[in-house]
Amino acid sequence: MKKKDYDKNYLLGGAIACSQADGGFQEGGKGISTQDLRYLDPSWTPEQIEDKHQNNPFSQEEFDQALKDQGTKYYPLRRGIDFYHHYKEDIKMLAEVGLQIFRTSICWSRIFPNGDDQEPNEEGIKYYRDMFTECKKYGIKVFATMIHYDIPVNLVKKYGGWKNRKIISFFENYVTVLYKRLGDLVDYWLPFNEINAAKFSPWDGVCLIPGTEKNMDQEIFQCLHHQFLCSARAVQLGRELVPGKLIGGMIARFTTYPATSKPEDNLQAIQDDQYSNWFYLDVLARGYYPEYMKRYFDKINVHIHFEPGDKELLKDGTVGFVSFSYYFSQVSTNDDNWEQTAGNLIMTKKNPYLKESEWGWQIDPIGLRFTLNQIYDRYHLPIIVAENGIGAHDELTSDHKVHDDYRIAYLSAHIDQLDEAVKDGVNLIAYTMWGIIDIVSCGPLTMDKRYGVIYVDLDNGGKGTGKRYKKDSFYWYKNRIEEHIARSKKK
Ligand code: BG6
Repeated sequence: MKKKDYDKNYLLGGAIACSQADGGFQEGGKGISTQDLRYLDPSWTPEQIEDKHQNNPFSQEEFDQALKDQGTKYYPLRRGIDFYHHYKEDIKMLAEVGLQIFRTSICWSRIFPNGDDQEPNEEGIKYYRDMFTECKKYGIKVFATMIHYDIPVNLVKKYGGWKNRKIISFFENYVTVLYKRLGDLVDYWLPFNEINAAKFSPWDGVCLIPGTEKNMDQEIFQCLHHQFLCSARAVQLGRELVPGKLIGGMIARFTTYPATSKPEDNLQAIQDDQYSNWFYLDVLARGYYPEYMKRYFDKINVHIHFEPGDKELLKDGTVGFVSFSYYFSQVSTNDDNWEQTAGNLIMTKKNPYLKESEWGWQIDPIGLRFTLNQIYDRYHLPIIVAENGIGAHDELTSDHKVHDDYRIAYLSAHIDQLDEAVKDGVNLIAYTMWGIIDIVSCGPLTMDKRYGVIYVDLDNGGKGTGKRYKKDSFYWYKNRIEEHIARSKKK
């Protein structure tokens, strides 16, 4: 094999999600979305915030209360960073970084305020057309997620959300409008952000309120079945309406290593991978429910209702690329006393060889190369690393600088591993670092867990000037992208 055969170019970019960035929650004809209901009291201490996030992320009481409260004070996701009004200046800054690709999500309730409307909201379509056109003006490719956790709340109130198969036809209407009206501006489509979130964060993943279902697992997996069918329909409709464009699938990748060489730990690692990761990508990319899930479903008393045609639909609607978020790795063991630490969406087991972020997420750049190899080997589909980055408390100095050397170290080490994986033969399309501009964090709902190379002057209560400042990592990423492009051109 000649060098150029495996040394392919990939795009370096950045990612955000509408619910964490946009704000303008009642503007432009937008309907209320499920993420608009999540509550944070800005006067809480960091311990109270963490306690709520870990132990009581969403409740029926919160749902009822949020529908009565039209304000933004206790609802950070209604405010975001006001990207809705600032997107032009923000995208200009992203272009200055040199971004080759930008990932964001489309808010279903901006396009169909109630989810079951007959006609789409033209103002919502115009917002996305204008925003994506702005990206194109600077030569930035667009990677659009159709659902990053949020759906119109009306679908939950009226139909039970993902529990009801009717949602598939509402989703089809939504996707059809997206393809027809935005298809010329979008380069890569992703129907669902982190489809495996359902099991670990049910309100985010499938809009189920913890504590309200008799058999939560049953409901989660039935909802997921409906999401798998939606994904397959998005692929089929894409073939017809946006031919040639790639439509992908995504998981939150919980990369795991056996904690020891004990056979039990090795078996545990395989099972953790199957139940938390592979199941989801296997259905999306291979088009069928894998055999190993039967025993697991029997164990947790889950019986998925398939209707005639479901199997064929899954088989026909397999995705064109695979993507994942990657923040940390963990170990697997059958030792229940093994020390734990936090991870994205889940508690994880500690690896003594790794350091952690301020939130306890274990930092493992080599794990990214490991993951890329594993996933490519398993599916042989092109890959997008849809999220990766480090959440940290940043300090804005009096002269408006942020010296975030820890972020530069994290990103640099991870991007180095992308290059290694590509040399290993992995077909990588793109890397979109998470939270390229500071946004509201999704778990704790705070502003002070920051990922961006651009600082946004807002606090947990939404107070501040809202001004954007370039962090040290801004200049570092700009330089890294320039070098990356120059190297790509030489090949
Ligand atoms: C991913 C989500 O799971 O993790 C993002 O797709 C989220 O929406 C990211 O922001 C990081 O998590 P957090 O809680 O630190 O914002």
